Amino acid sequence: MTSARTPAAGTEPAEQPSEDALLSAQDVSKSFGGLLAVSDVTFSIPERGIVSMIGPNGAGKTTFFNMLTGLYRPTSGVISFRGRDITRMRPDRITALGIARTFQNIRLFGTMTALENVLVGEHARMRAGLIGSILRPPRVRREERSAHEKAQELLGYVGLPASVMGLLAVNLSYGDQRRVEIARALASDPSLLLLDEPTAGMNADESARLVAFMRQLRDERGVAILLIEHDMKVVMEVSERVTVLDHGEKIAEGKPQTVAGDPRVVEAYLGKRGGTE
Ligand SMILES: Nc1ncnc2c1ncn2[C@@H]1O[C@H](COP(=O)(O)OP(=O)(O)OP(=O)(O)O)[C@@H](O)[C@H]1O
Ligand SMILES: [Mg+2]
Repeated sequence: MTSARTPAAGTEPAEQPSEDALLSAQDVSKSFGGLLAVSDVTFSIPERGIVSMIGPNGAGKTTFFNMLTGLYRPTSGVISFRGRDITRMRPDRITALGIARTFQNIRLFGTMTALENVLVGEHARMRAGLIGSILRPPRVRREERSAHEKAQELLGYVGLPASVMGLLAVNLSYGDQRRVEIARALASDPSLLLLDEPTAGMNADESARLVAFMRQLRDERGVAILLIEHDMKVVMEVSERVTVLDHGEKIAEGKPQTVAGDPRVVEAYLGKRGGTE
């Protein structure tokens, strides 16, 4: 959020992750038993960039996300964030450094309200501790009040109507649940936001609004975004750079138009469709 540099839009792909990348992954692999889910992927995200990762089902996209956020440990390779090695760091430490995410399958607490779900996300930054939370001295009450205000502000920022902020998450529309997930991720004040198929289940109108929101988030708050997305319209509209995975390997990377016309990419998608439908 502090960089004054301009976004690295149109930067051509480099096999070596650039020195000044916000996040870089060098030759990262992950195997599950005999299955190589991600194979020697080198990838970087520029400060304040909006980049996408695409590929057929099972290509390794979510597995790659899970390594960036510490949920999975890479079998080999190095991941660094702001020049710091985070390859074997715990997920909560990685969150504290400034990487936040949403999940492909929404993971909200269904029996908590939208507002409470965002407060959970803020908890990582609060100082009260267990004793403080029970005794609630004035300092803690002040902290709680400001956390509450911040949660409301974030939910408003992602476009959740005030009238539904107090509803249980389970009773929200699909699009609104996705919004709450983004607000919860933003509650940890990330400088990098990873979105795993955020438009899944959204209609065209909601998807278009999400595209506008991603740009706003980057422009106003300086947040870099890595997007996994199946909706090509969204990918083509919002991405400064697209990386394509197929069977765990990076098969193409570059500007959206270039990648979309790449024969290997077309083949990966058509081959997959021919094989599964
Ligand atoms: N925890 C796991 N244990 C074993 N295999 C896994 C695990 N997670 C993912 N895989 C396998 O790794 C491969 C890549 O899966 P991944 O979920 O990363 O794909 P994806 O690109 O996100 O696909 P989709 O577009 O369907 O979400 C798949 O073959 C999947 O079955
Ligand atoms: Mg996935």
